[in-house]
Amino acid sequence: STPIIFDTDPGVDDAQAIAIALAHPDIELLGLTTTFGNVTIEVATHNALLLAELAGQRIPVAQGAAEPLVKKKNPPPGHIHGDNGLGNIALPDISTRAVAQSAPQFIVEQVNARPGEVVLVAVGPLGNLAAALQLDPTLVDKVKRVVVMGGSIREGGNVTPVAEANMFNDPHAAARVLQASWPLTLVGLDATHRCVLDPASMEKIARAQGDLGRVLAESYAFYRAFYQKALGIDGCCPHDSCALVWLLRPDLFEVERGTLSVVTDGLAEGQTLMAPHSRQFVDGRWSQGTLADVCLNADGPAVIAWIVDTL
Ligand code: BDR
Ligand code: CA
Repeated sequence: STPIIFDTDPGVDDAQAIAIALAHPDIELLGLTTTFGNVTIEVATHNALLLAELAGQRIPVAQGAAEPLVKKKNPPPGHIHGDNGLGNIALPDISTRAVAQSAPQFIVEQVNARPGEVVLVAVGPLGNLAAALQLDPTLVDKVKRVVVMGGSIREGGNVTPVAEANMFNDPHAAARVLQASWPLTLVGLDATHRCVLDPASMEKIARAQGDLGRVLAESYAFYRAFYQKALGIDGCCPHDSCALVWLLRPDLFEVERGTLSVVTDGLAEGQTLMAPHSRQFVDGRWSQGTLADVCLNADGPAVIAWIVDTL
């Protein structure tokens, strides 16, 4: 099974993805690292601990970025994920605590303990990965792969006409991570918007997942109401789960290879750009880059079926 570190800002769709990471026999979950994004860093860490507890598992949780590297923090999107990140539902108390290391320290230690083996799956703003890279630049050669849920190449954005939320929340961190020379897969809105988790599928998951299932289903109801109002669809995109689905079932995605850049300032801040060759456009200049795998489409029904089967 693949050892992963799951970097997350839970978040309703993050919670669904965490449930998959906890449940799937082909994933060895080394730890959850938390970031601000859908919620404040304190709430993100609390939710990560809670979700692991509800699944009856002791998984290290390391707390990370409280704010973006450079820009001023955007207010958390309480209308999408609820102020508590889990649809404002009542939540039980937790009895576990985060580990002493920060998220970037945890990432550096774990990757160095198993060079060439660990996959970093990041589904929130990318400050923790950017900081880990700064602590230890040799990570680019030591991770097995980085899988990022974020960005959008042709689909348009979900926060601005061109920017996806995880990129928009910390574009400078995103630029460092997407422009680094490590093996990287981008699972952005081009793929995740093809996948809609419908209410009937959610009910099946809720029935199978016990206490955790109740939290997933009730928070899903809140998230679904947002999708209904904002996009007019009945169901919601399991964005963050798609990163894990790609890891275990890459055949369900259409991938093109190219180099990535992120716009850090101005009207298009947070936009991701792909050049379909190995030259990379960084700081207004072309140089030799590292090809990333960029998901540009997904078999939505098959992705949803896989998620339901797994949970
Ligand atoms: C991403 O933004 C967050 O709100 C979701 O959890 C997901 O990671 C989708 O754009
Ligand atoms: Ca997320």
